Amino acid sequence: MKVLVVGNGGREHAIIQSLKKSKKITEIIAVAGNGGIAADAKTVDINVKDIEKVTAFAVENKVDFAVVAPDDPLVLGAVNALNEKGIPCFGPTKEAAIIEGSKVFSKNLMKKYNIPTANYETFSDMESAYKYLETQDMPIVIKADGLALGKGVIIAENLEDAKAAVKSMMEDKVFGASGANVVIEEFLTGPEVSVLSFTDGKTLVPMVSSMDHKRALDNDKGLNTGGMGTVAPNPYYTEEIAKECMEKIFLPTMDAMNKEGRTFKGCLYFGLMLTPKGPKVIEYNCRFGDPETQVVLPLLKTDLFEIMQAVSKGELDKVKVEFKKKSACCVIMASEGYPASYEKGFEITFSTSRKNVFVAGAKLDGDKLLTNGGRVLGVTATAFTLKGAIKKSYKKVEKISFKNAYYRKDIGARALKAYEEKK
Ligand code: AMP
Ligand code: GLY
Repeated sequence: MKVLVVGNGGREHAIIQSLKKSKKITEIIAVAGNGGIAADAKTVDINVKDIEKVTAFAVENKVDFAVVAPDDPLVLGAVNALNEKGIPCFGPTKEAAIIEGSKVFSKNLMKKYNIPTANYETFSDMESAYKYLETQDMPIVIKADGLALGKGVIIAENLEDAKAAVKSMMEDKVFGASGANVVIEEFLTGPEVSVLSFTDGKTLVPMVSSMDHKRALDNDKGLNTGGMGTVAPNPYYTEEIAKECMEKIFLPTMDAMNKEGRTFKGCLYFGLMLTPKGPKVIEYNCRFGDPETQVVLPLLKTDLFEIMQAVSKGELDKVKVEFKKKSACCVIMASEGYPASYEKGFEITFSTSRKNVFVAGAKLDGDKLLTNGGRVLGVTATAFTLKGAIKKSYKKVEKISFKNAYYRKDIGARALKAYEEKK
């Protein structure tokens, strides 16, 4: 089978390395992929948001199956377009991808179906938003409605900052059309857990839980990034909490989407906060998380392609999805300065195997691999203990070099502490 993977980051590289293990696949093509992904798949330079071109390419090249990984093409309807041409896909239609594409939609969905989340109000005009803010406790959370490259969330410590956040989104339009509507919600506290799941709208199978590290600097200091590292499983996510989430959040969300006539098929991502009042949804994503995928898929025992095909056919109940009883750690090697300004174009050298080294931002120059982004690599290792996985991934990091490489030194430290506290 010829499989097309749409996307160009570390997540897509992890998906491709996992798919490569399937005996059913004869060829993987990545659109657009990147210079690192080129080691594992044929790459074709088409903008992932150019759905017409992506679809035309898939038809022309007689692709048998497509995996659409990033939020933008999903929300824009890539799966709808590919399905119309008879190409089965892993990923939700745009009608279902709205669960990530509009925070107003997802918050209203949770309210309607009693799915635990932060209390909130939505606003389409600034004056009413200001008036509401004046009645609220601080800190408070302001979210742009639409996709904003993961940056559309502002936590304001006081009224002045909260109003400024609303103004920046609604009047100054720093997130473009995404900020035309805003959600203002209650500030929650507690450990965060990411749970990715496979669902075909009838069955939902949660994957192993994980923990992201969003801040740029050690000890969770510095700016928010796309993610500086992940570990799996997440020690805070006990069996008891998992059961509660399944009953109160995961299955109700799947059912709610069905009732709305927006059946979700693909990877549904639950961003959860374990608050003193129980687990609550912080956000939904309509896709695999990045860099959560880089720790979750290396732990998957079952053939990923078999699962993806089953999801697409609505036969997920026929597959036994299993994960290894191991831990994984992914350390992101970034360009110094990320997420602000940074230099790129430096050669990356490896004195280690590139298995489970997922390339996020690099390009080929002849046979040299050059840095080409803020996040450059996700370096993953698995082991029987989290401690072992952390040690192995940092050892691997030391065997990879490029000028201006920067990485956090404490990925997994908080998780290790949580395990120790549990003992
Ligand atoms: P999101 O883009 O929705 O994942 O939000 C980014 C980050 O903002 C989350 O990972 C949380 O750390 C934080 N956040 C979002 N909503 C809330 C909330 N209601 N209370 C506290 N923190 C939040
Ligand atoms: N790691 C969070 C996300 O993929 O949105």
